[in-house]
Amino acid sequence: MVPEEKKQTSKKTAQEELQDLYAQLESVATTLPLATKPEDIVPGEGSATADILCIGEAPGQQEALERRPFVGRSGKLLRKQLVEQGLDLSELYIANIVKVRPPENRDPTLDEIEAYRPYLEKEIEIIEPTIIVTLGRFSMAAFLPNVKISQVHGRLHRVVYCEKQYYVFPMYHPAAALRGTKMLQAFQDDMKKIPKILAWIQEKRQSESLEEEVEKYVLQSK
Ligand code: URA
Repeated sequence: MVPEEKKQTSKKTAQEELQDLYAQLESVATTLPLATKPEDIVPGEGSATADILCIGEAPGQQEALERRPFVGRSGKLLRKQLVEQGLDLSELYIANIVKVRPPENRDPTLDEIEAYRPYLEKEIEIIEPTIIVTLGRFSMAAFLPNVKISQVHGRLHRVVYCEKQYYVFPMYHPAAALRGTKMLQAFQDDMKKIPKILAWIQEKRQSESLEEEVEKYVLQSK
């Protein structure tokens, strides 16, 4: 299915819906944890019709300065590795669960995650990604609670999130990959699976829709 066709069921394009979402988020920013002004919000970046949605935990210092997700040291590693797998960054979407930098880059609290969750949910609903790649345990826990990242990273999961089915692919956070060779290797190994998984899901969906077409034809010709 052509993504633009998929997303153009309402009058607004997915891109416009995302812009509206972030405008709304900025308008209520000061009522949300961590934000003191609308400019503290770091929006997601990329294609509103992306097949791959990468989700981190929260912006760091560089991200807050540039108001762009994953542009610091760990972001550079993430982006480099995505490109090395032949993925076009302009066709992906990169976002965070929590949209404002926590002080001293501390972990986000559960309350902070909860406060920003509706915006993440809406973002996912608009983008309708084929795969959600979670980066780190906080992002993973939004979709796969009660599991250990060391046990599930690099494995594809099918989850129901906001009453819709998604494929979720948990990975270590790139900051963890920067801390040691073993983690870096695991991060690279998992990353290499993404294009293959995407192709597999797309093929599966194509054959399912072909089956549906055949089924319709069979019924009609009875
Ligand atoms: N770490 C994250 O989780 N997100 C960013 O945007 C940057 C670093």
